[in-house]
Order: sequence, then C-alpha cells, then structure tokens
Amino acid sequence: MTTRRKLIITGSLAALGLYSYNRGLRYPRLSFEPLAHATALTDSIGDVTLVDAIQIEQDALCFRAIAPEPKISLYANKGKFAFYVNNISEDAVLDIQDKGICDLEEEVRGIDRHITIETANSQTINIGWKLPTKEQTKFAVIGDTGGNSELDWCLTRAKSLGAQFLLHLGDFNYGLDDYENAISKFHTAPLPCYISIGNHDFHDSGLIYQQFLRQLGPMNNAFTLNGVRFVNLDTAADFFPAGSGNRGALLNTLAQSPTERQIFFTHRPFRDPRPGQDHTIGGVNEIPWLVNAISHAGGGHLLAGHVHHSTELDFSGLRQYTVGEGLGHEDIVLQRQVARILVGTIEPERPVNFEWASLNMPWSLHRSHTHLLKLEKAKAQKTIDWYTKLHQA
Ligand SMILES: [Fe+2]
Repeated sequence: MTTRRKLIITGSLAALGLYSYNRGLRYPRLSFEPLAHATALTDSIGDVTLVDAIQIEQDALCFRAIAPEPKISLYANKGKFAFYVNNISEDAVLDIQDKGICDLEEEVRGIDRHITIETANSQTINIGWKLPTKEQTKFAVIGDTGGNSELDWCLTRAKSLGAQFLLHLGDFNYGLDDYENAISKFHTAPLPCYISIGNHDFHDSGLIYQQFLRQLGPMNNAFTLNGVRFVNLDTAADFFPAGSGNRGALLNTLAQSPTERQIFFTHRPFRDPRPGQDHTIGGVNEIPWLVNAISHAGGGHLLAGHVHHSTELDFSGLRQYTVGEGLGHEDIVLQRQVARILVGTIEPERPVNFEWASLNMPWSLHRSHTHLLKLEKAKAQKTIDWYTKLHQA
C-alpha cells in the first residue's frame, strides 16, 4: 500500500471516529444515535412549524402532540384545508394567537382535534392548545404494560384515578403485533400519553425504534406544566459516550435553566430495587454522567420502569420511583392483587406529591405470555417466598 493510500485510509477512519463520537453510538445493536425530528415541513397548503408536536403520517396533515400544550404555526396558501392533532386532553382549549382573515373550525373527537381552515389569501395562522389552570393536576405513571389487554386496563385505570395524562415508562412491545396494537391504543386512549421508549421498543431481532419515532414521539423531550418541568429521557439502549446524542444535548440545554420542580421519566432505573439484581442502565460511566447532568439541571424525581415491581428509594440525591407493574406480574405470582400504579399531583407553589394506588387489574385481562413464563421460573427457582416477603415488608 502506498503512503498516500495509508494517509487517506487513516484520515477517513479518524473522521469517522470523530463523527461517531460527536453524534453518539448506541448499543446493543451497535448503531448511530437516531436523528432528531424535523420541526418544520412544507406541504401543498403552505409551510408548517411544529412546537411540541410531530407529524405522524408522511405526506398527510396528521400530527401528534408530545406535550400538553402544543403549538402549530402555518404560513397557509389561499384555499380550504383540514388537519388533525392527536393526543390532546379533552380539557384543553384552542388558543388562537393569530388567524388573519379566515374561517377556522375545531371539532373534538376524544383526544383528537380536527381543524378546518378556509383562507381568502396567503397568510400566517398561529394556533395552540392550553390546559385551564387548576388547583391540582393529577397524572398517572406506569411502564412495562406490553401492548395487549393489560395496556387497555392501565389506560382505563389512569383515567379513572383522575389523571390528566399518563407517563408511560416504556416496554409496550413484548410479542407479535404488540407494537402496532400499542400504537393504536395510544392513538385512541382515553387520555393523552407521553411515552419513554423501552429496550423492547428500541430493538428486538433488529432495530425497531423507527416506528416509535414516526408514530409516538421523540425519545428525548421536555415540557413545563403549572411550573413543573417534565423530562423524557431515553435509556432504552446504552450510549457511547454517555453524554452524546439527543439526550446529552437536551440535558445540556436544561442545565441553562435549572429547576427543582422537575420530574424525569425514563425506562431503565439507576438502581434495581430488588436485592441482588442489576437491571439498570448499563453503559460505561452512564449513570454517573446522568446523575451529574440531572443535578446541573436542578435535580428532582426519577420515574423508571423496566423492573416489574413497584417501590421507591433514594439514589444520589434523587427520589427514584420504580413503576414497572403494567402487566400486574406480581398479582399472578402471589395470586392476589398487589400491583400498583403511581399517581402524581402538581399544585402551584407546592412540592410535587406522589401516591401509590392499586392497579386493580381484573383477572380476565391478564393475558401476557411473559408473566406466565415468569411464574414458571419463580416456581422453579423457588423465589415465590421472596415475592411474599417483599409484599409483607
Ligand atoms: Fe425493559
């Protein structure tokens, strides 16, 4: 090989290494960090800019809110057109900032808002939705539901507990058709759902997160409601380096406006609450980096799933709630209803409050093959006594 050729190869490898380091790598499956969503698009109706919303159908005006108060700005061409926005609370009120001279109509269909606009000229139209200020806003939290009847129940239970929205902590994909079924259930849920991607939603026999990005939302984002900042953090697969990618960029941005009134929701916990178990974030230096970054952003609470158990503990200045009983797994192991869901309450000028509520899942809705396998494993390993002790503690 000539010296010139060696130099070209060395230079190319160095450039690829630098690019990979800056963009970030994910594993397992070794891959580049996914690109962030586009916030602007051009359609036959004109130019569209999205804040806290994504486009969920390519080449169609169908959007999904990824926060309670999304905004849509249009530079609309002359004519009549329609679009809808999914995942908006029934309580949210249309807020028209600027509509020029046009006819604008809104129809509420569950968590969908259908908008029809007719303009006489090209013009700017800015609209959004706002939740009325309340003394109390409740939200529910749970993960690890799979995409079957257990997910239906968790959505129903969250609504019946008075939640304005659900924070889903990931892992809705455990089996055949779960991905499609779960997306359909999230799109037609009785309340808005903001979803943190789980390891089973990120990769299976290959990388499968593209569907999550297309139809559910980004893997990292933040929104503020009634003075409390909610931060969705991606822990579905390990990061290299720990601070790279969209997650690192988001946390660096949040550190510029730190707040203690803050809730981080994610899939994998910082500490496994079960004795002798280590189902946690696994990347090199990843947990110390996250603890430090969260501290610089002001700290707060950490909500995680992944472990199919419900409990809370302190970890490096954070209160970690593990809320991973979306399949009601321990109901099956113990043959009594012990599984729990978490309910958070935010009130102006007061600390965020969390309370556990019974999941109360009807026996007829337990259909998961996963926890039947776990029951067999628990019997074989004689760990049922361990579960019993856990619930007596
Ligand atoms: Fe998981």
